[in-house]
Amino acid sequence: MIVLAGPASPKTAEHLAELIGAQLVKVEYKRFPDGESYIRLPANVDGEEVIVVQTTYPEQDKRLVELLLMIEAAKDLGARKVTAVVPYLAYARQDRRFRDGEALSVKTVLKLIEAAGADKFVTVDIHKEESLSWLNIEGVNVTAVDLLGKHLGEKRLSNPVVIAPDAGAKWRAEKAASILGGETVVLEKHRDRITGEIVTKEVEVDLRGKDVVIIDDLISTGGTIANAANIAKEKGAERVYVACTHALLIGAAMEKMVKAGVDEVIATDTVPSPVSVVGVAPAIAKVL
Ligand code: R5P
Repeated sequence: MIVLAGPASPKTAEHLAELIGAQLVKVEYKRFPDGESYIRLPANVDGEEVIVVQTTYPEQDKRLVELLLMIEAAKDLGARKVTAVVPYLAYARQDRRFRDGEALSVKTVLKLIEAAGADKFVTVDIHKEESLSWLNIEGVNVTAVDLLGKHLGEKRLSNPVVIAPDAGAKWRAEKAASILGGETVVLEKHRDRITGEIVTKEVEVDLRGKDVVIIDDLISTGGTIANAANIAKEKGAERVYVACTHALLIGAAMEKMVKAGVDEVIATDTVPSPVSVVGVAPAIAKVL
């Protein structure tokens, strides 16, 4: 078995190869002067089972093309089975038509991965698991909530309360609370589909003397978390921790969250960032 490390996921691929006892092969890559991507597999994959590992954080389009080139090349060069491991799947949030005429981005991206020749697809905390039904190949979504919960467990939280910053994060908060042993609070969030403005509704809750954990699948601009942290602080929360799988942290996201009262952010390494401290390779290895 060969683990093919894509340009975006060298560490995850290395850790994964070690865990499953596979040969690690790093692809050769470069960018042509006009911006096009070049990929070369420096190993014989003929007849082999190949696991392509490539996450798709910004620049997403470039990462996606590299991923597709790797899958197609492996298949074309005779790989027996190709599994695409994409720790962070970009475009997953556009999973339905919020406004008439919109493209279903997640459908297009999954169809491209399948069309390139993947026989199996594995990702971590996809925005909505139901999106995998667009695939005609096996699709597996792995959750990192257990790993994040375990990491938070080492923080010795006092009277923890886990907050879901919107309804979509409810199951995540419940799962984390079952690990940390606390209650959950689910907030109601509305996003303006044209301006992107986020409004989070106030809740009746007393958080005095409690440490709070806000958990979500991803942090982009930090607006969702900042709103939740503001509410937590207003309700008397002591320390405010934030846990997410994919820390995109666009622009001033960190500053925005700190200003709202967040003490610490932890994330997984599906997207590299200064807070990406939890490795997801062990969770992925279990499904390979
Ligand atoms: C949306 O439903 C997601 O789960 C995240 O809450 C959202 O994408 C985070 O975006 P931002 O950090 O820009 O608020």
